[in-house]
Amino acid sequence: KKDLIVLGIETSCDETAASVVKNGTEILSNVVASQIESHRRFGGVVPELASRHHVEQITIVIEEAIQKANVTFDDVDAIAVTEGPGLVGALLVGVNAAKALAFSLNKPLVGVHHIAGHIYANRLITDFTFPLLSLVVSGGHTELIYMEKDGSFQVIGETLDDAAGEAYDKVARTLNLPYPGGPHIDKLAQAGTPNIDLPRAWLEEGSYDFSFSGLKSAVINTLHNAEQRGEKISPEDLAASFQASVIEVLTEKTVRAAKEYGVKQVLLAGGVAANKGLRASLEKAFGEIDEVELIIPPLYLCTDNAAMIAAAGSMLYEAGKRGKLDMNANPGLDI
Ligand code: KG4
Ligand code: ZN
Repeated sequence: KKDLIVLGIETSCDETAASVVKNGTEILSNVVASQIESHRRFGGVVPELASRHHVEQITIVIEEAIQKANVTFDDVDAIAVTEGPGLVGALLVGVNAAKALAFSLNKPLVGVHHIAGHIYANRLITDFTFPLLSLVVSGGHTELIYMEKDGSFQVIGETLDDAAGEAYDKVARTLNLPYPGGPHIDKLAQAGTPNIDLPRAWLEEGSYDFSFSGLKSAVINTLHNAEQRGEKISPEDLAASFQASVIEVLTEKTVRAAKEYGVKQVLLAGGVAANKGLRASLEKAFGEIDEVELIIPPLYLCTDNAAMIAAAGSMLYEAGKRGKLDMNANPGLDI
């Protein structure tokens, strides 16, 4: 059987990324141009700035991905692109580049959901054993997704307000840490003790949904109250206490869902999957459950990249999915 070569393109937020993946599992190249430095002074991603950077970078990044993979555009069997969700102006740059390539090279186009991409990042390091459960934790998403087979995504729980990464970034901002704050809070937390009492949002009995805005407010109030009393709170302890609350809820709900749904694998996905505390907590919890294999991707596959889009796109391509040249960016796309 001939190898399947897929070019993946991802521009949903603040990384311009292109990658070439062989047979849905082997990375031939993985190029990511990050805009983090440009957005940092604004304390978050500025959508208009993101679009403009994508426009400047997209051609360079795609050409670099092809070159580093040691293939030609002719060798590419399909072009996979993130069609949503994300920032509309950012998504449009990737979608238009993919459509232009598909049209000019006369190659099939495959639209990919960004979260399907995060989940299939795991396919680049392991085979899937169904049924499986994926905990997706990123700057825009917090979801527990049950998968009976390839391409079937059942959302069994999601955040009712802030995403986990969003909560990390907002708490980091109140502690005057640079954007994106997740890694800084993670580092501070390692040096602190979780000795400050903060809420855990378990929600209704049996619910797999999440909520992080109450926790974020509790952190801000704790800082504010201490300030008014003229006391000083240790940022390390506050970070450790915040992180303990997030991790406890994420771990508990993931374990409970894995048991209830009888899954064989649990996959961690999304930018917050880079969190050291979360990785350790899940490893400990699932280390005690023999029936479930826990998969944690390496850091470069946790944050936004295009290899994950090419991996998901390869699976969809083999399942017969084709996009049309009137494909549009869909910022609110459902999985
Ligand atoms: O998946 P991603 O790159 O982009 C989205 O699709 O949102 O995730 C970015 C998010 C940011 O909120 C960032 O603060 C968070 O992932 N993040 C972390 C860590 N590394 C990145 N959060 C907690 N601990 C980390 N080590
Ligand atoms: Zn993402």
